[in-house]
Amino acid sequence: MRYLLEIIASVAALLAGKDSVLTSVQIYPNGTYPGAIDPAAEPGAQFLQTSPPFYPSPWMNGQGEWADAYAQAKDFVSQLTLLEKVNLTTGVGWEGEQCVGQVGSIPRLGFRSLCMQDSPVGVRDTDYNSVFSSGQTVAATFDRNLFYQRGYAMGAEHKAKGVTVQLGPVAGPLGRAPEGGRNWEGFSPDPYLTGVAIAETIKGTQDAGIIACAKHFIGNEQEHFRQVGEAVGYGFNITEAISSNIDDRTMHEIYLWPFADAVRAGVGAIMCSYNQINNSYACQNSKMLNNLLKNELGFQGFVMSDWQAQHTGAASAVAGLDMTMPGDTLFNSGESFWGTNLTLAVLNGTVPEWRIDDMAIRIMAAYFKVGLTLHEPPINFDSWTLDTYGPLHYAVGENTQQINFHVDVQGDHGTLIRDIGARATVLLKNVDNALPLSNPKFVAVVGEDAGPNLDGPNGCSDRGCDNGTLGMAWGSGSANFPYLVTPDSALQAQALADGSRYESILDNYASSQIIALVSQANVTAIVFVNADSGEGYINVDGNEGDRNNLTLWQGGDELIQQVSAHCTNTIVVIHSVGPVIVTNWFDSPNITAILWAGVPGQESGNSITDVLYGKVNPAARTPFTWGATRQDYGTDVIYVPNNGNGAPQDDFVEGPFIDYRAFERQNTTPIYEFGFGLSYTTFEYSNLQVIKHNVSAYAPTTGVTEAAPIFGNFSTNLTDYLFPNASFPYIRQYIYPYLNTTDEKKASADPNYGQTAAEFLPPHATDGTPQPLLAAGGAPGGNPQLWDVLYTVTANITNSGTRDGEEVPQLYVSFGGPNNPSLVLRGFERLSIDAGQSTTFSADIVRRDLSNWDTVAQNWVITSYPKSVYVGPSSRNLPLSQAL
Ligand SMILES: *[C@@H]1O[C@H](CO)[C@@H](O)[C@H](O)[C@H]1NC(C)=O
Ligand SMILES: *[C@@H]1O[C@H](CO)[C@@H](O)[C@H](O)[C@H]1NC(C)=O
Ligand SMILES: *[C@@H]1O[C@H](CO)[C@@H](O)[C@H](O)[C@H]1NC(C)=O
Ligand SMILES: *[C@@H]1O[C@H](CO)[C@@H](O)[C@H](O)[C@H]1NC(C)=O
Ligand SMILES: *[C@@H]1O[C@H](CO)[C@@H](O)[C@H](O)[C@H]1NC(C)=O
Ligand SMILES: *[C@@H]1O[C@H](CO)[C@@H](O)[C@H](O)[C@H]1NC(C)=O
Ligand SMILES: *[C@@H]1O[C@H](CO)[C@@H](O)[C@H](O)[C@H]1NC(C)=O
Ligand SMILES: *[C@@H]1O[C@H](CO)[C@@H](O)[C@H](O)[C@H]1NC(C)=O
Ligand SMILES: *[C@@H]1O[C@H](CO)[C@@H](O)[C@H](O)[C@H]1NC(C)=O
Ligand SMILES: *[C@@H]1O[C@H](CO)[C@@H](O)[C@H](O)[C@H]1NC(C)=O
Repeated sequence: MRYLLEIIASVAALLAGKDSVLTSVQIYPNGTYPGAIDPAAEPGAQFLQTSPPFYPSPWMNGQGEWADAYAQAKDFVSQLTLLEKVNLTTGVGWEGEQCVGQVGSIPRLGFRSLCMQDSPVGVRDTDYNSVFSSGQTVAATFDRNLFYQRGYAMGAEHKAKGVTVQLGPVAGPLGRAPEGGRNWEGFSPDPYLTGVAIAETIKGTQDAGIIACAKHFIGNEQEHFRQVGEAVGYGFNITEAISSNIDDRTMHEIYLWPFADAVRAGVGAIMCSYNQINNSYACQNSKMLNNLLKNELGFQGFVMSDWQAQHTGAASAVAGLDMTMPGDTLFNSGESFWGTNLTLAVLNGTVPEWRIDDMAIRIMAAYFKVGLTLHEPPINFDSWTLDTYGPLHYAVGENTQQINFHVDVQGDHGTLIRDIGARATVLLKNVDNALPLSNPKFVAVVGEDAGPNLDGPNGCSDRGCDNGTLGMAWGSGSANFPYLVTPDSALQAQALADGSRYESILDNYASSQIIALVSQANVTAIVFVNADSGEGYINVDGNEGDRNNLTLWQGGDELIQQVSAHCTNTIVVIHSVGPVIVTNWFDSPNITAILWAGVPGQESGNSITDVLYGKVNPAARTPFTWGATRQDYGTDVIYVPNNGNGAPQDDFVEGPFIDYRAFERQNTTPIYEFGFGLSYTTFEYSNLQVIKHNVSAYAPTTGVTEAAPIFGNFSTNLTDYLFPNASFPYIRQYIYPYLNTTDEKKASADPNYGQTAAEFLPPHATDGTPQPLLAAGGAPGGNPQLWDVLYTVTANITNSGTRDGEEVPQLYVSFGGPNNPSLVLRGFERLSIDAGQSTTFSADIVRRDLSNWDTVAQNWVITSYPKSVYVGPSSRNLPLSQAL
């Protein structure tokens, strides 16, 4: 019923010429907005902002590296019937098959179903897989090679399990508010760093032979109110999901930026998100999907919905959605906006043939592009049980057979995971060479975060608890640990090897024992603390996905203060999903070292031991800012609906000023700035050189596309679309492309059946004539000239200490304009430099790096404001600079 109302509402909205599906709109008079600031008084994002329509949906054309895959897809799709094409686009329903999502198969051609599987840290819901560090953790390495290797290794594991599409990596959330529950799944609130990381991860994953899926597109910056049902379950009375209200410039310069890199890297799939953008649902937002993603960025792959993020049938098809997941309207409803309805919509002319052909071509081109063949080995695991035998169709408990083959896909990835964990550990403080440790006399480890979860590493479903060391955060972005090396076990093994005395107390509240332990002579106390978060469907300690605060969990602050009050050599290790407030203790003279180890995955203990003992010389940089207070960030999650029963309105009034951009603008000094991280050696920066390249002037892309192609014919005789015959192995609740009767209205079961395209689709939605190209478009990622190298910047970096090490020189640019951040990251490199040696840091500045989005020209432009480049070891330590 809820969906019916939404559909009626969306029809009305579409008739009104916009995508919005808002029903009851509450408009506050000027100045009476109940929130802290009246967003209407600010430039940019607006309360109840709407999303302009953009039709038709661009058809794929095989540009760039996609030519071969396009040709293969054309051959294949040309052989398909309409029912078979619909099968490619529609999931068979929640828990209908083995993977977290599967579309229909094409038995006539021996083509097995595509398997969509979480997660961005390893194969989810199976066994004998590895658990990698979170995206945010690997981001701290600032190491392109590690981004790639991690992507490749995860891709290889998914491939060996029979997965077709790995549901990752993540650039949404980007991390607008540090409280955001899923920030750890992504990389960094800096779009440049996230762009590099997502591109390298995608290349790795797809080189391993499966499709990567960049998600969640777009503005998916908090968990609260992302889905109506979930919010109602938490006691909130809302009828529409949250709307992220984002102005066009901020969209381009911040949130869309990394997705442009993903598209340029050739990503095969993109997942649209639960939230609305400017009051239009992400999976039917024609501005986002048709205009920005498929036209401007020239995305050639396919858009799949997040699970239950589709809200309309034909409307989402013409707005640019290509695949619905998991296929049913609501889990296990047996109903679908597509399946039968999509078959009917094509037959009755609502969805043009070229659009269904384009969906199929996009899916199959992504498939061929990564080297998948028409005869892939079967899926060898099941997401819904680890039992060896069980029902193939879990939702209905049917077809019991062997479903888990327990294939070990880990290879030697443990070594890589350990290396990433160590090279991602950020050394935030290190007084008088407290670190590295060298044969310490007595090591005392304190904190629950050093030890195991007493219920086992996988003891909490989808890691939905904060028990023991934080090796992974919670939600669908989790995977089962094959093992979890705790800091306690790894540090004890090291202590025994060194002949050190070793004791640990893993109960944060054993105060008297802790004080007695750390007050002893010769002690090196290492305190482990954490802060967790995750996906909205799980509530841990009152945190409904998003963090309720930025402080440490399990009494971490008190624990640190207790230890440091009694021990002059207190080392703090933080496992967390983002910044935590360290204000009350970070500068205590008794706290000699602080490390951020992120969410490191299965090798946690080994990784931190390698850093603490100097086997790995740290070089990681914090991929976000550590503010003194929560308010310093200037952004936060909305925890209480602010629009009556309508869609909560999340106005991104800060525009591009998030994370360090906000701190710089407010002139607020953070405790640890973006890009900061220490080493056990020292580096010196000198000799900045800026080389200007002669490139031709930026030219807007012009011209028109070809007309929309169609591939093959289809019968219009409804009899051809009925279920095959009585012996067809029909599965209950399953989503099929077939009709159960030639009475269209009955087959659809939609009481509104009969509305024509002209009646309920926006203008131009079905238009397959040649369409104008966009000035900022022209190739995957956007206008190719955006990647012209305008300058090359070099500097000498010298290791002036006595240990070999690695250094991450960073290049920042100031744009000079009044509404621009004072500094933005535009280059970095992780360099290995032996003691006493020098090397050259080199970074190219491409046209996009110096451009602002011009909302009037709808193109990138380099303003005439004077611009400068800065090079140094962090965003606030930039010894070298030069005007451009
Ligand atoms: C809102 O109020 C401000 C200050 O009173 C005024 O400057 C502005 O014009 C008003 N805006 C509208 C849309 O009424
Ligand atoms: C569609 O997929 C289902 C499930 O895999 C399969 O049973 C059916 O035969 C397929 N239909 C066609 C027309 O290929
Ligand atoms: C939700 O709000 C609507 C509109 O105010 C109201 O009619 C309905 O009873 C409310 N539902 C619940 C469960 O509070
Ligand atoms: C077709 O879609 C409508 C909603 O638009 C839904 O109510 C109906 O159940 C769907 N039909 C089928 C066969 O899934
Ligand atoms: C065509 O089919 C779609 C999907 O079932 C339905 O929503 C629409 O009302 C139908 N239109 C006509 C003209 O029959
Ligand atoms: C694990 O954490 C939950 C709360 O998240 C708590 O209720 C439970 O007692 C913990 N279990 C153990 C074994 O510590
Ligand atoms: C251990 O502590 C005692 C007492 O403070 C001190 O004399 C001794 O030098 C210490 N040894 C080491 C190795 O720190
Ligand atoms: C912050 O949240 C955590 C987790 O729910 C909780 O343990 C802690 O007490 C909270 N901090 C404050 C200051 O309320
Ligand atoms: C540091 O530790 C010493 C004793 O171990 C204690 O006397 C002192 O008060 C501590 N200082 C702080 C700032 O906690
Ligand atoms: C549709 O196909 C059926 C079965 O092949 C046939 O009996 C019927 O005459 C066809 N209808 C039309 C209008 O061609």
